[in-house]
Amino acid sequence: MDRTLVIVKPDGVERRLIGEILGRLERRGLTIVAGDLRQIDEATAKRHYAEHEGKPFFGDVIAFITRSPSFVCAIEGPSGTWAIVRAAMGATNPADAAPGTIRGDLATELTENLIHGSDSAASAERELALFFPTLR
Ligand code: PPS
Repeated sequence: MDRTLVIVKPDGVERRLIGEILGRLERRGLTIVAGDLRQIDEATAKRHYAEHEGKPFFGDVIAFITRSPSFVCAIEGPSGTWAIVRAAMGATNPADAAPGTIRGDLATELTENLIHGSDSAASAERELALFFPTLR
């Protein structure tokens, strides 16, 4: 078994799409093993997105992810669950996301792209430790 971090971002919560988004992952056969609605603070956001510090969009990403509550969860499934989730999410820019994916069906704008999923096994481990330090 394997775990990855998923965040239903502020736009997803504001648009009342938590059930729609997580339902798609559950129907795929993945399991939510931890999760809660929480307002991500600036310090946590900066640690989460540390690899993007200095990029032109860094300020926008931090402002966006901290503007209202997100639904943060740990998702469990077979080996490589992070990649299964990323495929279900669709391309980062919803304009490029294929129909049938979460972003391709539900979003149109780059900043407001509904969901974050860890982009590698190493990222999943790091991000789960950041958001769920006591999860075993
Ligand atoms: S990069 O440069 O390719 O490594 O960046 P990328 O992986 O595509 O994106 C990293 C996260 O930043 C978000 N992003 C943006 N937000 C706002 N404005 C712009 N222009 C922008 N470009 C990228 C993108 O959604 C990624 O967030 P997460 O939460 O990881 O999906």
